[in-house]
Amino acid sequence: MSSSGKDKYPWWKKAVFYEIYPRSFQDTNGNGVGDLKGITQRLDHLNGSKDSLGIDAIWICPFFPSPMKDFGYDITDYKAVDKLFGSLKDLKELLTEAHKRNIKVVIDLVLNHTSDQHSWFKESKSSKKSPKRDWYIWHKGRNGKKPNNWIASIDLRSAWFYDEKTKEFYLSTFSKHQPEVNWRNNELKEAMWDVVRFWLDLGVDGFRLDVVNFYYKDKEFKDNPLSFEPNPRLFQKHKYDRNQPGTHKVCKELRKMVDKYEDKVLIGEVFDARAGQCASFLGKSDDELHMVFNFHFLIRPWKAAGFHDSIAKWYRKLGDTGWATITLSNHDQPRHIGRYKKGKLTELRAKVAAMMMLTLRGTPFLYYGEEIGMMNGTIKKSQLKDPVGIRTWPLKLFGRDPERTPMQWDGTKNAGFSKGTPWLPVNPDHKTRNVKDQLSEKDSILNFYRELLRIRREHDALSVGRIEFLKKGEDDVLLYKRSIGKEVVHIALNFHHRPRIVAKKVKGKVLFSTHRKKGEKVDFSKEELKGLEATMLI
Ligand code: NOJ
Repeated sequence: MSSSGKDKYPWWKKAVFYEIYPRSFQDTNGNGVGDLKGITQRLDHLNGSKDSLGIDAIWICPFFPSPMKDFGYDITDYKAVDKLFGSLKDLKELLTEAHKRNIKVVIDLVLNHTSDQHSWFKESKSSKKSPKRDWYIWHKGRNGKKPNNWIASIDLRSAWFYDEKTKEFYLSTFSKHQPEVNWRNNELKEAMWDVVRFWLDLGVDGFRLDVVNFYYKDKEFKDNPLSFEPNPRLFQKHKYDRNQPGTHKVCKELRKMVDKYEDKVLIGEVFDARAGQCASFLGKSDDELHMVFNFHFLIRPWKAAGFHDSIAKWYRKLGDTGWATITLSNHDQPRHIGRYKKGKLTELRAKVAAMMMLTLRGTPFLYYGEEIGMMNGTIKKSQLKDPVGIRTWPLKLFGRDPERTPMQWDGTKNAGFSKGTPWLPVNPDHKTRNVKDQLSEKDSILNFYRELLRIRREHDALSVGRIEFLKKGEDDVLLYKRSIGKEVVHIALNFHHRPRIVAKKVKGKVLFSTHRKKGEKVDFSKEELKGLEATMLI
């Protein structure tokens, strides 16, 4: 804290975020779908009471009116709440109650595309002469074919869709129901800024920006060059449909607008695997977004060296001014505990992952349910609800439903999520894996997360401190030092299930550990790390 009483660090650097998929958190009206009132009802789980997890901010996935072709990522009205989730009044109440518990609320801004049912698109589609024609990306065919070779983001189909009436194509790189808007059109841009101000005036604390690097497209609609990298998604380099200079201009404008309010945060989903490309959206002089997601951990195998190399690369690309994010799971990828599942070792692995996530330098984003080690649901093909249906190789999981199953609050029917029929089947393991039971089990994953979060709040070294790696994955061990002022904390993580020699001059007392008692003296120049041990020393 500075002498003025205001922390010299922006709140989001010390914060731990928690992503909520609103359909699946808590249903209060028995229709089987989670709602905003449900989130409000469950805020005590998150912060402000003795049993809380202890997070600082929530990011709520879209709750705006939508035909739900991509469960809310296809919006028909940016300034309202879908009836399925409640009302604007419910949202206001959620904000008030969250703020009372020191929880900031970040909402999802989907500004790259709307629903094809949005009145803007309907108008745009009605005629080539429509005043809103240019609000979307329309193009005539090229020699009787699609305007160019641009492909969709998640499969290899063309991103262009033909409109019989006006005999032109519109661009839609997600489902055909998500036409992309034209950010070069000033009226469209102003309409979007109006949306941003609406929510800021209402009191939200920031935005997660959906596919922010897609906003601008090449003016001449040039073909993308082909690429022969092994991942089929990369069969072409997205040179002309993503990461265009104009997008940086838009981010700068947005940042200026947001900076007129106090303490707001902008977090970008940059749909690109390259750390440097992602980091570029923070701007050269901290004048674009505050943070961008790092998705590398979502696809990392269980290997210490891989985690190190990936985060070290991010730190390098972010430089001294950029700020990292740490995410293991989200609503688009199988849950990490499922990815790292290995019989009896699963729970220990989840704890090692949790300690890593909550002690690396950067802002952690937890995904609802990970605090109890929620598994991916088993969804049969016939039960599939996700209309986009990404299938993630090599896990044979259908769509993104497995990671979106209802939150497991207790061991009763429907896990305390709903009195009706849940929109997706509740995982049968809720009888033994749920918040209520884990609160009373001393060594549960939930209590492990709670303790980590408590310690993190008490030690600034763990959030805003420097980081120095002493072991970068050699022998499957990570050892790093976090420090600020006189405070030094060492974190030792053994990713292997067998003991590993550390052989580094690191001594201290246990602050928290999977295997050791608090206060125990440890000298890692002599002692080994036990299999899958995670220990913090001070
Ligand atoms: C990224 C979101 O995370 C995903 O769920 C959605 O399908 C696409 N953007 C399209 O909005």
